[in-house]
Amino acid sequence: MNSPLRLGIAGLGTVGAGVIKIVQEQSALLAVRSGCDITISAISARSRSKDRGVDLSAYDWEDDPVALAKRDDVDVFVELMGGEDGPAKAACEAAISAGKHVVTANKAMLAHHGQAMALAAEAASVNLRFEAAVAGGIPVIKALTEGLAANHITRIMGVMNGTCNYILTRMENAGLPYAEVFEEANQLGYLEADPNLDVGGIDAAHKLVLLSAIAYGTQVDFASAELQGIGLISVDDILAAKDMGYRIKLLGLSSMTDAGLEQSMQPCLVPYNSPLGQLEGGTNMVVIEGDAVGQIVMRGAGAGEGPTASAVMGDVMDIARGISIPVFGQPAATLKQTKAAKSNTGSPYYIRLSLNDTTGVMAKVTTALADAGVSIDRMRQKGHQDNAAPVLIVTHEATPTAIDMALKAIEATGDLAKTPIALKIVEV
Ligand code: NAP
Ligand code: HSE
Repeated sequence: MNSPLRLGIAGLGTVGAGVIKIVQEQSALLAVRSGCDITISAISARSRSKDRGVDLSAYDWEDDPVALAKRDDVDVFVELMGGEDGPAKAACEAAISAGKHVVTANKAMLAHHGQAMALAAEAASVNLRFEAAVAGGIPVIKALTEGLAANHITRIMGVMNGTCNYILTRMENAGLPYAEVFEEANQLGYLEADPNLDVGGIDAAHKLVLLSAIAYGTQVDFASAELQGIGLISVDDILAAKDMGYRIKLLGLSSMTDAGLEQSMQPCLVPYNSPLGQLEGGTNMVVIEGDAVGQIVMRGAGAGEGPTASAVMGDVMDIARGISIPVFGQPAATLKQTKAAKSNTGSPYYIRLSLNDTTGVMAKVTTALADAGVSIDRMRQKGHQDNAAPVLIVTHEATPTAIDMALKAIEATGDLAKTPIALKIVEV
């Protein structure tokens, strides 16, 4: 048996406590599978006195995560505090400078600083691992960097924010409005401290851009990802989609095209009976397409104590086994600077308009669509009590540019009672 691998854990919340439970309860399994004991030397969080539901008495305490990261008796610094900058980044950088391996679940930090941190880790010959940062318990980083390493990845799709998927499926199943389900998710503790990270699509986009970097050998590029949250989706949209055989999902799409790297995270309609359409509650799904392998579908818990701690420990055990893989699957210095592109591929669209119910309004809408070259496949005006007429339109294949042009022209009529929405229909 090799000498023990000693952890320093900063962050003792949902994920941190889960990691400590696995280390305490599965020590024999971890040792036999990784060839050494995995121990915890020291821990850090904001409050020393908080009850974490685990016995912490055997571990040294550090108030400062940077001090923890630099300790001589720490081989792997496990960062589970979160936050794009601040103590998480400072402590990870200190650990790398001190020659320690780093395991983190922090997608926000890596989406913004991944390239610089990967360069630093590789220059210091230490591992920087982040399986838990993307899709919780689903081993998608391992799949891309190892099992699928011989493929040219052609496309990644996925539902990678459990909170949004919970909100959308709960709205459908209970017929409850967005605001009510949002509040319910809040009470259940599902939402990030800044809820816009979830419902604004930012958290899911952080995950998507990390996958893109590995898949296409490009530097992490969050800034150019197209983002749209779920805040404007109504129960009527969800039910109309269902009526037509679709379900609305916050869908991540990334592909490398001749024009450049396309990355988007936005609500889309997907076929109701497709694997993505069938995804309920807080579950995540990642679909990867490679030239040799074809399509791979991975499904599982995207968050929570056990699944996320499972992913963290998978990384720790790889380090214990002496497995070393470049942070994004190839040396960071070889990752290409991305040329970002906005997808202008045609697809059918679902459009919901709320129109002032006056003579001639519909004629103006159809003219705006026709002028933009958008052809209507189906159209329905629903009954209404007030003066705002809900109109649902499904288009034939149209480009995002044409849809934008049509919506601008419709807005310019001054006949819209509410902000319109247009959602891509993706045949997956
Ligand atoms: P959490 O429950 O809020 O726990 C955060 C922990 O970090 C707390 O123990 C907190 O201390 C500590 N902390 C925060 N700021 C600190 C600071 N300045 N100095 C020292 N300690 C500090 O968060 P979590 O859900 O476990 O998430 C941790 C990381 O995992 C985040 O990057 C998150 O995005 C990622 N992640 C979480 C999940 C999930 O299901 N929860 C899934 C995937 C990835 P106190 O407890 O004393 O306040
Ligand atoms: N807020 C995230 C989600 C947590 O809902 O999926 C896991 O990253």
